[in-house]
Amino acid sequence: MKVAVLKETLPGERRVAVVPAGVSALAKLGLDVSVESGAGLAAGFSDDDYRTAGAAIVSRGDALAAECVVGVRGCGAAGDRWAEERDGLRAGTVLVAMCDPLSSPEICLAAAEHGLTIFALELVPRITRAQSMDVLSSQANIAGYRAVIVAAAALPRILPMMTTAAGTLTPAKVLVLGAGVAGLQAIATAKRLGAQVSAYDVRPAVKEQVQSLGAKFVELPLETGGSEVAGGYAKAMGDEFYARQRELLGRVVADSDVVICTALIPGQKAPVLVTADMVRRMRPGSVVVDLAAERGGNCEGSRPDETVVVDGVTILGPTNLPADVPFHTSQLYSKNVVTFLAHLVKAGLPDLPVDDEICRDTLVARGGQLVHPKVRERAGLPPLAPGSA
Ligand code: NAI
Repeated sequence: MKVAVLKETLPGERRVAVVPAGVSALAKLGLDVSVESGAGLAAGFSDDDYRTAGAAIVSRGDALAAECVVGVRGCGAAGDRWAEERDGLRAGTVLVAMCDPLSSPEICLAAAEHGLTIFALELVPRITRAQSMDVLSSQANIAGYRAVIVAAAALPRILPMMTTAAGTLTPAKVLVLGAGVAGLQAIATAKRLGAQVSAYDVRPAVKEQVQSLGAKFVELPLETGGSEVAGGYAKAMGDEFYARQRELLGRVVADSDVVICTALIPGQKAPVLVTADMVRRMRPGSVVVDLAAERGGNCEGSRPDETVVVDGVTILGPTNLPADVPFHTSQLYSKNVVTFLAHLVKAGLPDLPVDDEICRDTLVARGGQLVHPKVRERAGLPPLAPGSA
C-alpha cells in the first residue's frame, strides 16, 4: 500500500505528520512511503533526511495520488484551503489526520461524499492500549508546557523567588484551571521555573496528581460528584454550577499573576471560568493564557490568536502552541501515526475491521457516507441502519 506524507497548508502549521524515524517504521510494516517535497522543512527535517530513511520525495500531485495520505490537519482542521486539497484526492483514498469532525461535521460530510475514507485521529479512544496513538494527549502535553513559556515571556516579572544582593524577589503565583493533560504539564513546567503554583479542576480525582507535582489543589465547596465520565473526561455541568464556580474562583484568580486556562468538555464549547469582571480584579501586568480560545474560550474577552489587554491584564489566546515547537511535537505525532497505522495494518488494512474498537471509534467516513454515529448526529443525519456501514 502506498502511503504519502503531505506538506501542511494551514498558515503557521509547522508540524509534519511523519518524521524520518517514522518512515523507517512504516517501511517495516510493508508500506511504500513517499513524502511531499519540503513537508518536514519547517519542523527541521530535510528531504535528504527522508531519503536517507528510505522515503521517495514526490510532488504534491503524486503525494495526493497515494492510496493513503497522512497529515497533521485534514477536513475541518485544515483551514480554508481544504476544499482545494480534497478535490485533489481521489475517491477511495484513505485520509489519516486530525479532522475536527465533531465541530466541523459538514466539512467531513462533503469529504465523505467526495469518496474519502477518513480516520480522524482526535477520536482515538482514551484507553490504555491506544495511549501511544493519542494525538490529543501528545500535543496537549506540549501545549501545556508552551503555555507557561508564553505566559512567562509576557509577564513583567520573573517566575522564581530570587534572593540577590539587591533584594529578594517573591515568586510569581500561577493558577492552572483544568488539570487534564495540558494542565498537568503546565503545572509541572511552572513548578520547574520556580513559580508558586495552584490548580483547580472539576474532577476531584485529579487532586492527588496536582499535589504530586508539588502544587496546591484549590478546593471549592461545590458538589462535583458525577463530574467525570468514561475515559477520564469531565462532563458538562449546569449553568448554576458554572455561575457558583466563577463566584468562588474570583478571589483565587484575582490573587494570581498568571492564569493558564485548559478546561475542556470534549466536543463542546469551552466552559467560561474567568469572567470579564474577574479579569478586571486581577493586578495590572497579570497574564491569562487561554488554551480554549478557539472553542469560545475559558476566559471572557480572549480572542483566537490575539493579544487583548484589559486594564493592564494581558489575555493571550494562542490556538496552535504545538506548532511553536514543531521538531518535538512532530516526533510525538509521528509516533502516534505510526502506531495507529501499524494497528490498522495488523487489523487488516486496506480492509477495514469494523469490530475493532480503535478503528470503529476513529472511522468517520467510508463508502460515500459519514459512518461515525456522533459525527452523523452533529451533521443532522439519522443513525445508519445496523450493518450498513
Ligand atoms: P483534558 O480533557 O485532558 O483536560 C481538560 C480538563 O479540564 C479536565 O481535567 C477536566 O476535568 C477539566 N475541566 C472541565 N470543565 C472544567 C471546569 N468547569 N472547571 C475546571 N476544570 C474543568 O484536555 P487537554 O488535552 O488537557 O486539553 C485542554 C485544552 O487545551 C482543550 O481546550 C484543548 O482543545 C486545548 N488545547 C489547546 C492547544 C492550543 O494550542 N491552544 C493545543 C492543545 C490543546
